[in-house]
Amino acid sequence: MTTTFTYYGHACFSLEHNGKTWLFDPFISGNPKASSIDIDALNPDYILLSHGHADHVLDAVRIAKNSGAKVVASFEVHEWLHKQGVENTHPMNIGGEWDFGDGKVKCVVAHHSSVLPDGTYAGNPMGFILWLGDKSFYYAGDTSLTMDMQLIPRWASIHTAILPIGNNFTMGIEDAAIAATFVGAKSVIGVHFDTFGYIQVNHAHANDVFVDENVDLWLPQIGDSKSLI
Ligand code: NI
Ligand code: MN
Repeated sequence: MTTTFTYYGHACFSLEHNGKTWLFDPFISGNPKASSIDIDALNPDYILLSHGHADHVLDAVRIAKNSGAKVVASFEVHEWLHKQGVENTHPMNIGGEWDFGDGKVKCVVAHHSSVLPDGTYAGNPMGFILWLGDKSFYYAGDTSLTMDMQLIPRWASIHTAILPIGNNFTMGIEDAAIAATFVGAKSVIGVHFDTFGYIQVNHAHANDVFVDENVDLWLPQIGDSKSLI
């Protein structure tokens, strides 16, 4: 059964599988480049938040309340969501795994920082492995290249890795290409690029770097959808 990726800009995307939609890191209303996206038309079943920074959670409360989606996040972000009136949440932490019935999630290490927009401590940032049917996907969240990524092939055979490539706040292109080899992914979707001046990337150079690692790289445009399988 296929899984469809849809890009909403920055590090916001969804994976749709078997009639269920998993939305990651919603940041749309604060992204002028994503003005074509109708936030209130989004109707996910699950929302996964990698960490508390505004460019990952800005629209989470609004979409959660609109859709009733279950929000999966660190324990600290889960507590903050309850204070915002979001009831349907599932707290997790790094190393933990949970089978939601529609898919299984494992929280993995991300080296970054994490605080919510109002200054609330947000716990540690995370990445996710998501198993959908017989395929698995890795979303790194905001992170540097880490040695911990070498553990991921022990847990899952990653079909597609969704990696930040914008540099400055996260991995850049060269480190993301190494990350792809660490996690064993032959196919990468780049996110967290071109939104702000600090994270502009040269697309042709990015392609060259990934070709050298023999990894397929796709840099989606906002609104793009693609069947991954
Ligand atoms: Ni961040
Ligand atoms: Mn970010």
